[in-house]
Amino acid sequence: MTPSLTIAIDGPAASGKGTIARQVAVRYGLRHLDTGLLYRAVAVLCAREGVTLEDAAAAGQRAAHLVPADLEGDGLRSAAAGRGASVVAAHPSVRASLLRWQRDFAEKAPGAVLDGRDIGTVVLPDARAKLFITADPDVRAARRWRELSASRDIAYRDVLRDIEERDARDAARTNAPMRQADDAILLDTTDMTIKAAVAEAVRLIDTRLAV
Ligand code: CDP
Repeated sequence: MTPSLTIAIDGPAASGKGTIARQVAVRYGLRHLDTGLLYRAVAVLCAREGVTLEDAAAAGQRAAHLVPADLEGDGLRSAAAGRGASVVAAHPSVRASLLRWQRDFAEKAPGAVLDGRDIGTVVLPDARAKLFITADPDVRAARRWRELSASRDIAYRDVLRDIEERDARDAARTNAPMRQADDAILLDTTDMTIKAAVAEAVRLIDTRLAV
């Protein structure tokens, strides 16, 4: 069996990794999984069913029974879903169930681009190419504020605070914290347009795939 080509793209909240990963997948003819959506879906299911996000066993149950339709629901992209995602993401039972889902997705031919927080370190440690995408917090908050404010009234300072709190929680958890893998290439998109960032990501991945 030909091994699938896998590419890992990690980084903090609103760093542009999702947009970059989507376009990188198109460029290399691979499938794409935004793994943040899995954690967001677990948080939304808990909220809908009145389960407190701190209840690790109940959140783990939701993660174990997640179905693809859960990733399409309304509200997954909201700030509240992002906050909830970073709470349930700290539960080992949730991460264990979602790990299996992510690896199953990545193994199918022709391979995939996964973006998240622990793809290069835990989910796909043998990925052929790994990027860690970052940008200054105020630039990330401004990008996210533009997205969110298109559909609802939201203050920039709340978006910035939310991103900073989430980054701190994601980096501090003991189980699969957000971290740049030792063999990942750092791409700082602070001063880049999204078009330039995608072009640079493809250039960096090409250098890895050529080895
Ligand atoms: O789009 P954004 O960067 O704001 O967040 P996301 O990628 O949708 O992830 C939402 C939350 O899910 C993160 O803050 C993490 O707590 C969690 N997450 C994770 O723990 N591991 C991943 N591989 C992806 C997301």
